[in-house]
Amino acid sequence: MTATTNTINPEKLNEFMGKMVGDLGAATSSVLVLIGQKLGLYTALAESGPLTPAELAEKTGTSQRYILEWACNQAASGYLDYDPAEERFSLSPEQAAVFADEESPVYLGGGFYSIASLFADEPRVTEAFKSGQGVSWGDHDSCLFCGVAKFFKPSYKANLIPAWIPALEGAAGKLKKGAHVADVGCGFGHSTLLMAEAYPNSTFVGFDFHAPSIEKATELAREKGLTNVTFQVAKAKDFPGKDYDLITFFDCLHDMGDPAGAARHVHGKLADDGTWMIVEPFAHDKREDNFNPVGRVYYSFSTTVCTPSSLSQEVGLALGAQAGEKRIGEVVTSGGFTRFRRAAETPFNLVLEARK
Ligand SMILES: C[S@@+](CC[C@H](N)C(=O)[O-])C[C@H]1O[C@@H](n2cnc3c(N)ncnc32)[C@H](O)[C@@H]1O
Repeated sequence: MTATTNTINPEKLNEFMGKMVGDLGAATSSVLVLIGQKLGLYTALAESGPLTPAELAEKTGTSQRYILEWACNQAASGYLDYDPAEERFSLSPEQAAVFADEESPVYLGGGFYSIASLFADEPRVTEAFKSGQGVSWGDHDSCLFCGVAKFFKPSYKANLIPAWIPALEGAAGKLKKGAHVADVGCGFGHSTLLMAEAYPNSTFVGFDFHAPSIEKATELAREKGLTNVTFQVAKAKDFPGKDYDLITFFDCLHDMGDPAGAARHVHGKLADDGTWMIVEPFAHDKREDNFNPVGRVYYSFSTTVCTPSSLSQEVGLALGAQAGEKRIGEVVTSGGFTRFRRAAETPFNLVLEARK
């Protein structure tokens, strides 16, 4: 017996093993959640009510034997309910809101697409740990791009128009009348499209340096028939235009190599009374205050996606996804902004406002 085993407290070990078996279960079940998303298993259950595996398989064109195994994992996870008398599986309204309804503000399905990319890209990130080099956004598995868009969209849909824009000084009034807006690092453009739909008198341009994302955003705008929005490939430090009334950055400032350079560029592109809105992952300023469930999720993505993305670009400041308001404020004011404040927040987002 080693010194280490001698000093082990069995009760503490039991407690820790209980937590770790739970975590192992969550990790192994995450691939089954993704399968459920891709095959429409949750939506079928939400639409039809309690189903036997045979009925769920029939409705989704899948194999009954696989569905039985999947459903048992989901019931053991607490993601589905099970009625032993009827041998039927079902989704409670709360489970349905999280897994089945992409329009619900608490839909988490998108997160599981992103998790798939973390494993697909792990060898590259492991190498980057040794070399200190970055991994650029566009080099990630494509699950990441749709996963990020799916993950953030419910929160933008629930909060952007009703709460976040009104929380900015004077912005809602300008947008209603007709304003000129740039959405930088827009990805698939869900934030841009929501604003363009809500404010038809204003014009919007979404910029991102990732061309496939700009193609997807353009396609979504066309599908919605929106004529007041365009998308263009451009970097945060050199996007075109001038005298914008509002420039928005949704969950992307910390991914950039030179966020201070971006801040200087935004300062130069805003009208004198314009507003820079920065939405960043929720974080406290003190590192140890982020050692909680939300911080845990963000530190995972920060290690595997955000920090490598920043390190792959010029300067490579690598703010990380848990930089917090104080650190972001330093970057923003270094770009020439004199006013900076927290305008709103949710458990997942900080909404920051900067003025000249
Ligand atoms: C986490 S995603 C957020 C996308 C979108 N804003 C959203 O909320 O769904 C970060 C985005 O920032 C973009 N990005 C990163 N660095 C950039 C840069 N220097 N210039 C322009 N876009 C950048 C990436 O291509 C990616 O689309």
